[in-house]
Amino acid sequence: MSPRTRFVPTQIRAYDKTSLAEAAALIRAGEPVAVPTETVYGLAADATSEAAVAQIYAAKGRPSFNPLIVHVADVAMARRLVAFNPAAEALASAFWPGPLTMVLPRLPDCPVAKLASAGLPTLAVRLPSHPAMRALIAAAGVPLAAPSANRSGAISPTRASHVQASLGGRIPFILDAGPTSEGVESTVVRPGEDAVALLRPGPITAERIAAACALPVVRPQGEGISAPGQMASHYAPSKPLRLDCAQPVDGQFHIGFGPGPCQRNLSSRGDLVEAAANLFAALHEADASHFTGITVAPIPQEGIGIAINDRLRRAAV
Ligand code: TXA
Ligand code: MG
Repeated sequence: MSPRTRFVPTQIRAYDKTSLAEAAALIRAGEPVAVPTETVYGLAADATSEAAVAQIYAAKGRPSFNPLIVHVADVAMARRLVAFNPAAEALASAFWPGPLTMVLPRLPDCPVAKLASAGLPTLAVRLPSHPAMRALIAAAGVPLAAPSANRSGAISPTRASHVQASLGGRIPFILDAGPTSEGVESTVVRPGEDAVALLRPGPITAERIAAACALPVVRPQGEGISAPGQMASHYAPSKPLRLDCAQPVDGQFHIGFGPGPCQRNLSSRGDLVEAAANLFAALHEADASHFTGITVAPIPQEGIGIAINDRLRRAAV
């Protein structure tokens, strides 16, 4: 089976027992299925099948050197894929299930397709908390490779309608369980013996990670593609985006934070968690609007605000 590029009709189905069983059957048949996690919607496929993983890259138009996150149903499943060290043990017990991804060495008999790690000796694993994603992994009976369910380089989807707009006609099935709660992608770390490398900031902050495993958290510099969440332009809308604009600008779609006039407010009460959950929907809305550009209010660089600013800086490149 060669990766698909032809048109496929996309079904959007509300998440229930029947749609879950159909989604699991598609996964077992090697097809990609969009499914919500607590962070963003993922495009999931059987991680143990090279052909199924290839369908993900094809649907997204993703550069094949960018490795995927593999989602597991429980810690035991993760242990069959990668080698845990003491820091990984501590982080798993503190934050799993939840929005933390760990990059760890693949076991010699790791059943995950080489394509999912893009040829790297490591694998990114995550135990998500969203009931739909967990039910799908359990029903399919295999770990699921799942990047965000958008075309490569586009804004991540936090609703089924975002997935449909980006991947409609390219994937067969979207499980719709409403908007996601966290709104930005998981924190990605590489736990080591002496330190934890933070590869992508996210909902679990560096402070919480350091406290949970009693190791320093460092941002690696100049690793190139071994940390490709760092690729400059990664979450880009098609319109020019200006950050740190305290006031709306004429002709620009203003994304606000805290009280004040704007086209869409991330959180009128200035709550960063609420802002993260609304971020990508606001970018989608601004991108689809008649305005010629987008401005965004300053976002405090603290807590999950660090992840929000990270995504905004990439979107503005
Ligand atoms: O919240 C999330 O993590 C979402 C949901 C669907 O789970 N998934 C997601 O996947 O954001 P994706 O593929 O868009 O982002 C995966 C990130 C990228 O920055 C990728 O480069 C990094 O994880 N990554 C994956 N495998 C890696 C590896 N072996 N070494 C270093 N970085 C890796
Ligand atoms: Mg993505």
